[in-house]
Amino acid sequence: MVKLSNFSSIFVANWKLNGNIEFIKEYYQKLLPNSENCTVICAPDIYLNILEPNNKFLYSGSQNVSFYNLGAYTGELSAMMLKDNEIKFCIVGHSERREFFNENNNMVKQKSINLIENNIIPIICVGETLDEKNKNMTQDVLTEQITNSIPEISNYKNTIIAYEPIWAIGSGLTPTLDDIEKVHSFIKNIKIKFNQFKILYGGSVKASNSRDINNLQNVDGCLVGGASLKVDEFNRIIS
Ligand code: PGA
Repeated sequence: MVKLSNFSSIFVANWKLNGNIEFIKEYYQKLLPNSENCTVICAPDIYLNILEPNNKFLYSGSQNVSFYNLGAYTGELSAMMLKDNEIKFCIVGHSERREFFNENNNMVKQKSINLIENNIIPIICVGETLDEKNKNMTQDVLTEQITNSIPEISNYKNTIIAYEPIWAIGSGLTPTLDDIEKVHSFIKNIKIKFNQFKILYGGSVKASNSRDINNLQNVDGCLVGGASLKVDEFNRIIS
């Protein structure tokens, strides 16, 4: 398992359903990983094998894994298969998977267990909708998601949490710095053990706001969607 304590910050590129072989070749020619930080590129699974091999500060991650480990489950990829392909990280419970693929906390928890048992670090995503935020439900929603989707075996060495307010994803909107800091600090205090967890912020991170966000005391890096598809911009985020 990658030793998270070696890095001051962790930056994860979530390409979602984007990219092709040409794009990857050009991307890796231009990508400038920073040796103080951990950079993780989560491309669509079919391309994971052709990404540049992992090194001390650049890794490949998946965007999803099967709930199952083996058997008659057409179209699925197991944690063991990801491990066989040198995958070190995997996003789990992204709001798009929760919304479009009916992923619930229980599934997120089981997927995370499968990953940890295969020495892959799950990046477990949580976050509130705009409606929930407006009803002042953010803390309740996060407590419920975190309590039910993070397994007992998770600890600060084998699991990362990503706070992604759903209303901030792909919208160009972000919470205020003060709000991000408050939410991250709240998450770290839901259980004593979360105090040491790395917590990433995600949702409309770009080169122009990443430094301020990442400099917050309780922010340990960023999960970047749209802006990670532009390699020059992503280079500025991870620099
Ligand atoms: P965004 O996406 O950076 O495009 O808002 C973030 C995410 O979905 O992880």
